[in-house]
Amino acid sequence: MNHQASSTHQWLAGQVVAITGASGTLGRSLTRTLLQEGAKVLALTTSQNSSFQEGVEVVCWQAGQEEELRDRLQSINILIINHGINVHGDRSPAAIQKSFQVNTFSAWNLAELFLSTVDPADSDTLKELWINTSEAEVGPAISPLYELSKRTLGHLITLRRLDAPCVIRKLILGPFKSNLNPIGVMSADWVGRAIVFLAKRGFRNIIVTINPLTYLAFPLKEVSQSLYFQLFSKSGVPS
Ligand SMILES: NC(=O)c1ccc[n+]([C@@H]2O[C@H](COP(=O)([O-])OP(=O)(O)OC[C@H]3O[C@@H](n4cnc5c(N)ncnc54)[C@H](OP(=O)(O)O)[C@@H]3O)[C@@H](O)[C@H]2O)c1
Repeated sequence: MNHQASSTHQWLAGQVVAITGASGTLGRSLTRTLLQEGAKVLALTTSQNSSFQEGVEVVCWQAGQEEELRDRLQSINILIINHGINVHGDRSPAAIQKSFQVNTFSAWNLAELFLSTVDPADSDTLKELWINTSEAEVGPAISPLYELSKRTLGHLITLRRLDAPCVIRKLILGPFKSNLNPIGVMSADWVGRAIVFLAKRGFRNIIVTINPLTYLAFPLKEVSQSLYFQLFSKSGVPS
């Protein structure tokens, strides 16, 4: 069955959606919207004491211990990698280490674990990976390590998309008000609803921002970088 071709309205109903950073501002907004769509939500959280809406299954995890989630990811239809940190102006070795560990490598490890659960021969089971990088992929975020770590993740995902066994959607978001960005101008609730609205309509690069330049710069960057990666790298998959 082609899941995208099935009714847009019901596309998420009954699907199991796991989301990292679930106790954060956007994590909670996405959880609310997904529950309204009829999805079953699995909150992946690093905050042991967080409480969630009724009906949400909760699993705790830690960056660096992604392997422990392998079995649980098998039965997940959509994984939304949404966790992230911003060390702002800190450029100490510890800040470099933490930014890349959380924003880049834990996201990358989870992405690969999830992709390893996809059986390309199984067209009946929906499998999708959504990754929240940021419009920092193509513009400044007034936070060098945030930009560097999110850009690296974004570039790796562009590379990985060339051979991915399932749909990978990128979430390219502008500033919204949250714990991570208290002065963000958009509302996280609105952003969460816009993400799901665009995903249901098949967008793979989901851009939600007030910055018009991102709508031009991101698609150009994605297409040109993808072409470059395609020309100068090989899949490594035996033919
Ligand atoms: N706010 C913005 O303006 C903006 C713009 C573009 C993109 N984004 C991205 O959107 C995503 C959600 O951010 P948000 O604005 O909603 O911020 P938030 O409220 O701070 O949520 C981020 C969540 O990430 C998880 N997290 C924090 N430290 C972690 C660690 N060391 N290891 C693993 N997970 C950790 C936490 O969730 P748990 O406690 O549940 O694990 C935290 O609540 C992030 O990836 C962010 O970079 C934000």
